[in-house]
Amino acid sequence: GKLERIPEVPGFPFIGNALEMNLDFPLSSFLGFADKHGEIFRLRFPGRDVVLVTTQALVHELSDESRFEKSVGAALLEVRNGTNDGIFTAFPGEASWAPAHRILMPAFGPVPIQGMFSEMHEIAGQLALKWARHGPDTPIIATEDFTRLTLDTLALCSMNFRFNSYYHDELHPFVAAMGDFLKMCGTRSTVPYILQLLGRKSRLKYWDDIRILRETAEEVLRARKANPTDRRDLLSAMLDGVDRVTGTKLSDASIVDNLITFLIAGHETTSGLLGFAFYQMLKKPEVYCKAQQEVDDIVGTRPLKVEHMKQLPYISAILRETLRMCPTIPVYTVQPKNDDILAGKYPVKKGQKIMLVLARSQVDPAVFGETANDFIPERMLDENFERLSKEFPDFWKPFGNGTRGCIGRGFAWQEATLVMAMLLQNFNFSLHDPSYQLQIKQTLTTKPKDFYIRAALRHGMT
Ligand code: HEM
Repeated sequence: GKLERIPEVPGFPFIGNALEMNLDFPLSSFLGFADKHGEIFRLRFPGRDVVLVTTQALVHELSDESRFEKSVGAALLEVRNGTNDGIFTAFPGEASWAPAHRILMPAFGPVPIQGMFSEMHEIAGQLALKWARHGPDTPIIATEDFTRLTLDTLALCSMNFRFNSYYHDELHPFVAAMGDFLKMCGTRSTVPYILQLLGRKSRLKYWDDIRILRETAEEVLRARKANPTDRRDLLSAMLDGVDRVTGTKLSDASIVDNLITFLIAGHETTSGLLGFAFYQMLKKPEVYCKAQQEVDDIVGTRPLKVEHMKQLPYISAILRETLRMCPTIPVYTVQPKNDDILAGKYPVKKGQKIMLVLARSQVDPAVFGETANDFIPERMLDENFERLSKEFPDFWKPFGNGTRGCIGRGFAWQEATLVMAMLLQNFNFSLHDPSYQLQIKQTLTTKPKDFYIRAALRHGMT
């Protein structure tokens, strides 16, 4: 067929489309452009440009690892200032990635994750106790408590470190530093260089936040070295693991990079998932009732056990459907390994950054028709999910793709399932403001903004 140029969003010379970006919420700008420009288009910023795609068909094509590889996009390039060549921010082909991947992967396999159940349960119990003490009339800012939960859980399970977030009103300085750091990464990646020069104070704070992240990770590492243990966890894998291929171990600097990487990658994403899942459930009473009924049928008022985790298909479907409509990593970036042609007609150069806009491709009307934007967990039950995946491969990509896909998926799944089950088992929930409509807060990941709920105990705590 005939080749075509990728449509371009009109912009200014030099600064391109930068001024049209909403810096507090870059995703909203991408979605706005998508509404106007359709399945594929190019944005220009000073010194760089990016192609965005918004359909399942294009995401599927771009998931072919023989033609495309992960790209460290503009925002991730900024994150690299804090995590260097840690496994999330390593460039494709960068030598440090493969050994670190081989050493770290096994720590997040199914068996180790099941072994983390009791520690996950302990932290979830702290959340439930806190909400029980609030009583039924106190508005709870759900997303903050979910963030305390996911950070504490990850730090405890993977490095035996206690942030004890439920014992302080203020979040740990690490959490504030990380939130501000990630937000600034988003901003720095969109603002023209000239504007950046004006923000001296925010630049200094950015590097100061990085210092706080690194010092916290160094502290965790020092504490473990000072107190050796038999515990098998992520940190012990980092300290003791020898790569079977290269025979190398991780350096201390690389351990710090990867500790920060896991703390960043592993908590905002899962806390956003829980926040969005509660929003969706509370807006759809029939979904909420079905979920609670499932927990009552399977678990009743007995303590939750790791065996229950595989017996809650409806909860699982809710989590999948939540990540479909509200992917907490709403975009990721790939690049062609060689000059290539997209959709049979759009030439792209080797290394061209191409952003997969999951927040659009996962609600593609070509896949879901008129119900694309409705929250319907039933379509994500195993059988239906598999049928959809066959017909529309890669329609659901919230955990990324292939070799560079998420390492922590099983961890996130067990944690989110456990928390959903424990909370539904113990509480009846309602929206604090029944007319609340979803607003989104974005750092690099997304979560609901100003989302308040109420929690009334159903019976004595289980
Ligand atoms: C990679 C999503 C939870 C650790 C990724 C990627 C996505 C993702 C989309 C690929 C990014 C890219 O291509 O640039 C999510 C979501 C989560 C979640 C939606 C929760 C709902 C976790 C958890 C951990 C984790 C709990 C750690 C325990 C990582 C790491 C990578 C990664 C280390 C980089 C892998 C590599 O490049 O080799 N995640 N993630 N994630 N995730 Fe997750």
